[in-house]
Amino acid sequence: MGHYQTMDHTPLARALAAQLAAPEHIRRLFAQVPRHRFLPDVMWGPGREQYDRTADPEGWLAVAYTDQALTTQRDDGAEGGMGVPSSSSSAPSVMARMLTAARIEPAHRVLEVGTGTGFNAALLCQLLGSGQVVTVEVDEGIAAGARSSLYAHGVHPTVLTGDAETYASGGQASYDRIISTCTVSRLPSVWVRQMRPRGRIVTPWAPAPGAPGGVLAVLDTTDSTAEGRFEGGLSFMWARGQRERGGTPPPHQGVPAERTEQVLADPRGPWLDGDQALLLSLLMPGWSYGMGQEPDATEPYVWLTSTTDTPGWARLHANGRIEQGGTRRLVDDANRAWALWESWDRPEISDFGLTVDLTRGVQTVWVHGPQHTIWSTRR
Ligand SMILES: C[S@@+](CC[C@H](N)C(=O)[O-])C[C@H]1O[C@@H](n2cnc3c(N)ncnc32)[C@H](O)[C@@H]1O
Repeated sequence: MGHYQTMDHTPLARALAAQLAAPEHIRRLFAQVPRHRFLPDVMWGPGREQYDRTADPEGWLAVAYTDQALTTQRDDGAEGGMGVPSSSSSAPSVMARMLTAARIEPAHRVLEVGTGTGFNAALLCQLLGSGQVVTVEVDEGIAAGARSSLYAHGVHPTVLTGDAETYASGGQASYDRIISTCTVSRLPSVWVRQMRPRGRIVTPWAPAPGAPGGVLAVLDTTDSTAEGRFEGGLSFMWARGQRERGGTPPPHQGVPAERTEQVLADPRGPWLDGDQALLLSLLMPGWSYGMGQEPDATEPYVWLTSTTDTPGWARLHANGRIEQGGTRRLVDDANRAWALWESWDRPEISDFGLTVDLTRGVQTVWVHGPQHTIWSTRR
């Protein structure tokens, strides 16, 4: 037994709970359920720094009670990868925000998508009782780990191993709430079909992988629809089946432009500003972006690609040079999107929303209410 097992986490948990901006009944959960009991001995912070419980038990325990997302698995558990996070314990303030948005009531049955460490499932059990909580995790090893942490903590939710995109509970409507802890761009139909009347789905949503960040979608459901607003920006890892970028590949330096133009100001502005880029992802569907560096340039360029069936790409340089290629002219699309945004009096993220209509097979992004459609995609 290491001496760390005797270290008292209670004051740390209380201090963390006290700093969360959430209703008291949600905040209290974070003081009651010990987050560190759900974390692995080796994990990584937001700057990819490693925390090793054996080497530094106090540092490891302290970081468990900070408001940070902690990566608990990389590269789907494969050795020798790039270190891309594939499972994490989300930042407590983000978890509190989602639990609050879900408006969970005492008799509700809740499905959590993405069990991860099991910590969020443990909070739900604390809130509702184990019998009302089901959680589903695609990664077998992670599901097994979460199950044992949950049981060791004394709660027994149903922990399913499987892909939440296709998982169905015998076709029956059985949940009042779904809280998803991975990002989707296409809301799985089974989520809507499994809801009881007056259901609510809370999920990170983004129009495409590789688009900036994402938003928190808070969707109220009927038999065949899910509809609601985006409650601000939110960045989460993608659901496994939806994380491939697709569409036009990023334009490498050697790819010649079909159209080049010169503008006066640095055209990268909106794409380098996280808030503006996020807005643009709601205004203009189907694109992704990144940065590249030309050997003789002092600053990196921003590249854009289309993730729809219509190919298109662009490179935007600090010196005002804009290069575009393909059928879809993304920079022109973006300029039109901004002009619309201006004409609508510059709506904020929380003025936008989503309607998922299973009968019509479409998903629609709107602003200031479902009647003002911005764009729709086939699901
Ligand atoms: C941010 S982590 C979850 C954090 C977790 N709720 C917690 O409290 O620790 C996202 C999890 O979603 C899982 N996941 C991704 N795609 C999934 C899918 N299609 N079905 C079920 N789980 C999925 C990942 O394996 C990962 O463990």
